Amino acid sequence: MPSSERTRTTTGAVVVTCGGRRCQALSGGSPETLRAAVRNTAGAVLIRSQGCLGPCVWAPVALVAPRQGAGGPLLAATLLGPLHRPADVGSLADWVRQGGPDTTPVPPDLRALVRHELG
Ligand code: FES
Repeated sequence: MPSSERTRTTTGAVVVTCGGRRCQALSGGSPETLRAAVRNTAGAVLIRSQGCLGPCVWAPVALVAPRQGAGGPLLAATLLGPLHRPADVGSLADWVRQGGPDTTPVPPDLRALVRHELG
């Protein structure tokens, strides 16, 4: 889509992966596909928490949130898990490339992994 056809400015998704022991053990860290998607998407941010995010039963988990404007506060976050299948991490990476929750609803192949909508 030409940039002149866009009607709103996206801010990029903020993705928080869990740095807790259980999530790290099950995921092996942030997969390169997710890092690459964030690196190549304007405004997207990838953060790894210093410790457990809490819902270990769904490990490995990630939070995905839009921002209120570039550099603004996070809006309603979506908790996804478990994200141990490469296909699911690939779907998350695709969602990030599409602008994440700021522009696109949760993709159908990730809907079964939505645990909470926080906000
Ligand atoms: S270790 Fe990730 S949610 Fe607890």
